[in-house]
Amino acid sequence: MTLWHGRLGDTPADELLAYTASLPFDRRLAEDDLTGSRAHVRGLVRSGLVSADDGAILLAALERVGVELADGTFGFRPGDEDIHTAVERRVTEIAGDVGARLHTGRSRNDQVATDLRLFAKRELTALAGLVVALEEVLAARAESAGDAYLPGYTHLQRAQPVLLAHHLLAHGWALARDVDRLTDARRRLDVSPLGAGALAGSSLPLDPDGVASDLGFAGRFENSLDAVSDRDFVAEALFALTLTAVHLSRMGEELVLWSTEEWGFATLADAYATGSSMLPQKKNPDIAELARGKAGRLIGDLTGLLATLKGLPLSYNRDLQEDKEPLFDAVDQLRGGLVALAGVYTTVTFDLAAMRRAADGPTGAAVDLAEWLVERGMPFREAHALVAGLVRDSVERRVPLAELVSAHPALGDAAVELLGPGVAVTRRSTPGGAGPGPVADQLARFAATVAAQRRAIGDAAGGGGRGGVVVG
Ligand code: ARG
Repeated sequence: MTLWHGRLGDTPADELLAYTASLPFDRRLAEDDLTGSRAHVRGLVRSGLVSADDGAILLAALERVGVELADGTFGFRPGDEDIHTAVERRVTEIAGDVGARLHTGRSRNDQVATDLRLFAKRELTALAGLVVALEEVLAARAESAGDAYLPGYTHLQRAQPVLLAHHLLAHGWALARDVDRLTDARRRLDVSPLGAGALAGSSLPLDPDGVASDLGFAGRFENSLDAVSDRDFVAEALFALTLTAVHLSRMGEELVLWSTEEWGFATLADAYATGSSMLPQKKNPDIAELARGKAGRLIGDLTGLLATLKGLPLSYNRDLQEDKEPLFDAVDQLRGGLVALAGVYTTVTFDLAAMRRAADGPTGAAVDLAEWLVERGMPFREAHALVAGLVRDSVERRVPLAELVSAHPALGDAAVELLGPGVAVTRRSTPGGAGPGPVADQLARFAATVAAQRRAIGDAAGGGGRGGVVVG
């Protein structure tokens, strides 16, 4: 029996139930639905809408439903449209007539919005914790990279040498911004919609403020229409998750390149690489490739949700049921990627000699020659042209650049020293730059940032981390 059978004369068509049911996916909200219902019942008791005795009966029934869901004995029925229906139906079976009081002053519209916010709050915190864990791995690898260096690239062409630590921390800072975004999205979604009813509030003396604080929300909705129709929090969460996935994708692409024979900068640990079913010699970077591939999927989750929202009139529309699967999918896929990449970065071996060889090519210090001339008074544009001419000459006539520099009246042997192995990277001395001085400073700043994020997430998780009934 549906929750709305009183209004309609006929029983719902099988096709209607098959097409509109959300239970197959929203059963994942069971734990949050029970949490919301418990707070709702306590609010009804405080408001005098339900007696203390009836409240206790309802809470006990909800408790039992929780146990049944957790241990797999909960019997779902074909008529259970969604998790809210299933829980209320079962509460009524357990609590008898008292069960009929559970939904007082409430609609599934404010209920589902509440459930999804509780879910998103918990998951964003858990995911931010996993992003911080990956930052910690990068920080540790950067710390132990010492003075190792490799070519820095623009346009995927070798440009200037950079410390390996600098390169790894470039990814680290992107992840740190992701944590900020996840935390910020979580802060904005920390609003309880419960008490908005179907769309307009209630004639009954509900207590939305009390219910909000009971649920641990920072506050309650300001506008009931907005409360039941707002899915900005899903869109924001999805964007924060998707951009994180895009960062993992870029890291994955780099690992793919670095682990090729052509590049040879990285060797994946055997436990984090795959083989080929046909080619006996293969060692493939599948985690890195999937980190790259799955970003496309999250982009789909985000854009799909935005498309769902764009034409909706106020307030609740059934289209909003389409909010859940993209969010669940993005959460699951990102969690997998973060954990797998943390393993990859913990265990990958960097070939420091190959990196050094690639970075010590003669032209990596070209701009150092130009800057050397600038320090001696030459306008930069002139110095640039002079060095560019020497490089062209060196390439075309196949003469070592050092020879041309040594012979040039404006340069000479003192300037040749700039071309020595490992010299150029030491000259990047400006704040935030790629040389040893600024990178030492950056390592300390990054460690402080990550530690602060780790502490903030600990507080947001309330010590509990992620809990929840897993409903199969
Ligand atoms: N399963 C629905 C959803 O996810 C719950 C709300 C249904 N509300 C309604 N008025 N039919 O959005």
